[in-house]
Amino acid sequence: MAIKPITPLLTLSLIFLLSLSAASASFRSSSKWVPRFLGKSSLLTKPQSMTQQQYQYETRYFDQPLDHFSFADLPTFHQRYLINDDHWVGPSQLGPIFLYCGNEGDIEWFADNTGFVWELAPRFGAMVIFPEHRYYGKSMPYGSGDEAYKNATTLSHLTAEQALADFAVLITDLKKNLSAEACPVVLFGGSYGGMLAAWMRLKYPHIAIGALASSAPVLQFEDIVPPETFYDIVSNSFRHESTSCFNTIKESWDELVSEGLKNDGLLQLTKTFHFCQKLENTDDLSNWLESAYSYLAMVNYPYPANFMMPLPGNPIKEVCQKIDDCPDGTSVLDRIFEGVSVYYNYTSDVDCFQLDDDPHGLDGWDWQACTEMVMPMSSSRDTSMFSAYDFNYTSFQEECWKEFRVKPRPKWITTEFGGHDFKTALKMFGSNIIFSNGLLDPWSGGSVLEDVSETIVALITEKGAHHLDLRAATAEDPDWLVEQRATEIKLIQGWLNDYYLEKKPFSDM
Ligand SMILES: *[C@@H]1O[C@H](CO)[C@@H](O)[C@H](O)[C@H]1NC(C)=O
Ligand SMILES: *[C@@H]1O[C@H](CO)[C@@H](O)[C@H](O)[C@H]1NC(C)=O
Ligand SMILES: *[C@@H]1O[C@H](CO)[C@@H](O)[C@H](O)[C@H]1NC(C)=O
Ligand SMILES: *[C@@H]1O[C@H](CO)[C@@H](O)[C@H](O)[C@H]1NC(C)=O
Repeated sequence: MAIKPITPLLTLSLIFLLSLSAASASFRSSSKWVPRFLGKSSLLTKPQSMTQQQYQYETRYFDQPLDHFSFADLPTFHQRYLINDDHWVGPSQLGPIFLYCGNEGDIEWFADNTGFVWELAPRFGAMVIFPEHRYYGKSMPYGSGDEAYKNATTLSHLTAEQALADFAVLITDLKKNLSAEACPVVLFGGSYGGMLAAWMRLKYPHIAIGALASSAPVLQFEDIVPPETFYDIVSNSFRHESTSCFNTIKESWDELVSEGLKNDGLLQLTKTFHFCQKLENTDDLSNWLESAYSYLAMVNYPYPANFMMPLPGNPIKEVCQKIDDCPDGTSVLDRIFEGVSVYYNYTSDVDCFQLDDDPHGLDGWDWQACTEMVMPMSSSRDTSMFSAYDFNYTSFQEECWKEFRVKPRPKWITTEFGGHDFKTALKMFGSNIIFSNGLLDPWSGGSVLEDVSETIVALITEKGAHHLDLRAATAEDPDWLVEQRATEIKLIQGWLNDYYLEKKPFSDM
């Protein structure tokens, strides 16, 4: 039985994308695909499809200590940040600063996919800043990605706490340089970046007045939500589109396995699915399919988009139509191929499919998932369209040891940031956080879906997907999306008004 080590996050998949890289061939057959927030191609560098930058900004670098929490004599590194002050009304008017908490990838990619923040800036007279997360993009300690990712010692400063401290130190220094100490900072973030935004508001309330945390699964830890949540939501999106599509996918896993056991079965599967190289086992194919279905659920946007891959609007509907509309008598696996081609070959220009499309295999999220970001995920045969898998912590731990020589600390995040009885804790001391979620997004199940208090609110859209609200407005935006963004704007305006009211007596003195 295959072992599923990790689950995909916001971005799209997690640790076990590593399992597909040549360097870790041993991971491969023993691992289940783990969901991640982002596609692996977007993790380190910008996807090639992104040709030119859409928004104007200046790129700067800032020297950061490698370890904010010790006084060891360690090197510093250059943290990249993007900044634009075209619309900023400046310190004299206490102009706000909008800070996007960079997550696990190249910051330019997030800047280009977070149009909402850029569109808000003129309206609020705000400065916009996108600091990059350490160990991603161009913000590499030890001078290069190769050095930074060398081993468990060099990677040991890749943590969420260090990243938050980077943001805090950077914004404090920037404000000092601009004599803008009194200007309010509002945080934004999507996916893991949304988790960072929410956590930063909790940990650094003196630095940021509020946070918009979009699609932030802050509760996807330990046993806070059932481990089947993610794959159940993915499955529901397909079931909702078409029961026969759901059933075809559900049947396909056994078909795959029995096909693979036949003489020349792997060769036949290689042909059916148009792979460039011969399949070595059926788990690789299952992982490839699971990752497509999971990403499809994340980016099931109502209009065509090119977030992970170029895709049509409502892509799951398209996939299911392909699967359902095959002529009678078409085999289950041929149907599956037709469906998944919508995801992997929408542009019709792929000659053959590569299982290993990430030649570097270098992936910070895998490290994060093997240390702090342990998000247990299982799939149930009863409630999902996937084959049964129970998260096995022992084997997860073994994989992490094999890959990185590191032992996960699955309870650390909830100790550091909370999670158990989150509502009570937040209600009693927190304020000014928006948890926005689209219920189609499989990560929504691990997020905050109910209001916690008057100022810590959940904004839910039934038809929204992964941090759709942070994307730029388009002419095709449905009304519910326009309304969601309008509510967010109103809440942010309210935080700023409250802040200005507090400051007023002082500025009048
Ligand atoms: C990791 O690499 C660094 C730099 O080459 C080296 O100094 C250190 O001893 C290595 N640590 C381990 C645990 O291998
Ligand atoms: C603030 O100014 C100093 C001195 O010019 C500079 O070294 C530092 O990088 C600046 N801080 C930021 C956040 O840009
Ligand atoms: C991608 O689509 C085109 C057009 O339908 C087709 O000719 C090609 O074989 C497809 N590629 C793969 C790998 O299936
Ligand atoms: C979990 O994994 C360990 C190590 O790979 C294995 O020995 C154990 O049997 C597994 N447990 C279950 C319930 O499958």
